[in-house]
Amino acid sequence: MNHQKPVHLYKLLNSLSLAMDFSKSGLMNHHQRVCLLSLKIAETMGIPEESKQRLFCSAIIHDAGTSTWQEKAHLEVFEINNPWEHCQRGFHLIKRMNSLAPAARIILSHHDRWEGNNPSGLVGNDIPLESRIIHLADRVDILAGNTTTILNDRHHIMEQIQKNSKTIFDPDIVEAFTDLGAKESLWLDLNPKFVGHNLETYMVGYQIHVSHLELQQISDLFARIIDGKSPFTYRHSRLVAEIATFLAEQMGFKKNACQDIKVAGLLHDLGKLTIPEEILEKPGKLNQYEFNIIKQHTYYTYQILNLIDGFNLINKWASFHHEKLNGTGYPFRLNEDNLCDGSRLMAVSDIYSALVENRPYRRGLGRQEILKILSKQVKERAIDQTAVNVLEDHIDQVENIAANLENLWLKPDTASLSDK
Ligand SMILES: [Fe+2]
Ligand SMILES: [Fe+2]
Ligand SMILES: [Fe+2]
Repeated sequence: MNHQKPVHLYKLLNSLSLAMDFSKSGLMNHHQRVCLLSLKIAETMGIPEESKQRLFCSAIIHDAGTSTWQEKAHLEVFEINNPWEHCQRGFHLIKRMNSLAPAARIILSHHDRWEGNNPSGLVGNDIPLESRIIHLADRVDILAGNTTTILNDRHHIMEQIQKNSKTIFDPDIVEAFTDLGAKESLWLDLNPKFVGHNLETYMVGYQIHVSHLELQQISDLFARIIDGKSPFTYRHSRLVAEIATFLAEQMGFKKNACQDIKVAGLLHDLGKLTIPEEILEKPGKLNQYEFNIIKQHTYYTYQILNLIDGFNLINKWASFHHEKLNGTGYPFRLNEDNLCDGSRLMAVSDIYSALVENRPYRRGLGRQEILKILSKQVKERAIDQTAVNVLEDHIDQVENIAANLENLWLKPDTASLSDK
């Protein structure tokens, strides 16, 4: 029950980045587009390979500090007033991860202006080169974002960038971009249909496999981005992951499988990033229209995780958490014949976590109420009896996990900018 294939760092980030790209304007592949553009600029400038790899890892998650559609809408305007909060949040989230730590400083400065006056205190060449490249690529993509006639609009986009050379942007990077922008293919390569594939051609040379720990750290990063959508879910994915891992251990899963269950728990609600906050935070009952939007989330989790080699089982464990044994769940309408133990225990962990947490329309429930709801669902043949029994038999330990969750994971907020 281990990964069938090793997980490849760049492919993992390339796929997961899609989850961050849903906003009011739809799926625009913003992170992939900025990443591709950044790498092409770097290539034109002849920057060293090592720096290009750092550039990839930073550009593909540069807005990790943003979770809500509201924040994203704010960043979709060319001249942003105050972009610093998401830079700092991204910095804090990423700095404690072994494999991505170098990306943290780059992300912190990805809106720094060339002429200075930045909260980072940096100016000109002191701003990391990769940050300067991402800054320009990011603004180009904001200007290019919604157009369907990119070759007609590219001159206007280039003028806007050139106008801000030496003030907002590094003049050398503007020059490299001007050379590059003469090629029609540069613009056409950004088409959301092709950009993921185009980016993959750059990854061929970067064969980095992630360890279990790195995979968990990256999944934890995405869990925090997902849960950042709403104060009600601020730790939901981490709680589901811990409870699911605990149940898997009790049910005799092997060590590697338990590690993968944790990853699946952390990522199970990845598709929630496709749902507007108004629906997630609605204080009353959802109407049919809203519930249909909610139902999309596990489908998107499935499709995004399906892009990652080595994630076959993790995907089943993550994406089927709203399926029911009696076939009434969503979105695949699976039933007891095709729901494996990992998917079943994930569903129970998700329901338990949701019930114990506060929601906009009710407070978190107590032990007896939760156990009553779970046993009712067992009777209806909706969820798995064994998983519920294991949870009930260890209810003190499960409650302990919920109470001590913050100690089980490093809190990003405790990291300070001063030790950067
Ligand atoms: Fe940004
Ligand atoms: Fe869910
Ligand atoms: Fe969930």
